[in-house]
Amino acid sequence: MNKSLQKHDIDEIIDGLSQPEKTISPKYFYDERGSQLFEEITTLPEYYPTETELGIMRDNIVEIADLVGPQASLIEFGSGSSLKTRILLEHLHELAVYVPVDISEELLIESAHQLRQDFPNIDIIPVVADFTRPFALPNPPVMPLRNIVYFPGSTIGNFIHDTALDLLKVMYEEAGEDGALLIGVDLQKDPEIIEAAYNDSTGVTAEFNLNMLRHLNREFGTDFNVKAFSHSAEYNENEGRIELRLVSSEEQDISVGDEEFTIEEDEAILTEYSHKYTLRGFAEMAHQAGFEVERVWTDADALFSVQYCVRK
Ligand code: SAH
Ligand code: AVI
Repeated sequence: MNKSLQKHDIDEIIDGLSQPEKTISPKYFYDERGSQLFEEITTLPEYYPTETELGIMRDNIVEIADLVGPQASLIEFGSGSSLKTRILLEHLHELAVYVPVDISEELLIESAHQLRQDFPNIDIIPVVADFTRPFALPNPPVMPLRNIVYFPGSTIGNFIHDTALDLLKVMYEEAGEDGALLIGVDLQKDPEIIEAAYNDSTGVTAEFNLNMLRHLNREFGTDFNVKAFSHSAEYNENEGRIELRLVSSEEQDISVGDEEFTIEEDEAILTEYSHKYTLRGFAEMAHQAGFEVERVWTDADALFSVQYCVRK
């Protein structure tokens, strides 16, 4: 990683650890190992979002492809392994270009390589970027008729309202005048189902959470004693979100860049929110960003939704 980017990250980590509740952004989950652990999470029986969203996509792909229309460009934020995207790549009509954007470089490059083999007729241009900071999208080799921004997985839920709104505004700009947003949005439901999804019996989510500190120690020279931390995931009913934390069993002094922090015994670091929405709540936020929710698809149990939003 280049030095100025690294400085940016260190400043952001220092800022998070200086908050009244120490916080580290969930984007630091995703080094190579973190992305592998996330892939494992998506196959766990308790983690309902991935299978449910895949089912919604498969059940409604003909209608989705008709709404998107021919010769679109598909720009995906946080594409990971592009698993769900394969359904779109198989069914969208004469796709002009697919641009997966992700912070996890190894997985992005490997996924693009696989996709090029499986879809030799589609131009695939991966972009390694942190989408919470300004980044440039490539010019498509063929002029698309419209832009479709794709944001699956309910990754939108990992942001607090104001940041999620800012991201939707960026997507509104990227969609352009006749463009649209296709987004996966996890829904509010029995908290027991949600808590089980983030406290899986095999401990993969705990490993995923702890791996963030290993990533920071390696990449940014921090010195967390990872062994002293344990995973916590609790549903906050008032806020409609699951909250992931790492709790230290011992007092420890941490250095980040030129700063020092003390983590007390039993103190927690907040590592992730995963907001669960009502259809109305999400529609209101989309509306604030300039979108109209034109079509919503859900599974039979209304666990998850895929939403097609157009510019107002
Ligand atoms: N879209 C996939 C993966 C979701 S996991 C799915 O639906 O299953 C979230 C993905 O977003 C990861 O691949 C992670 O690397 C990426 N990501 C998280 N924060 C990011 C950021 N700030 N900028 C770019 N990518 C990010
Ligand atoms: C990527 N994101 C939508 C996942 C989620 O469910 O919030 C990340 C995750 N965290 C723990 N398990 C999965």
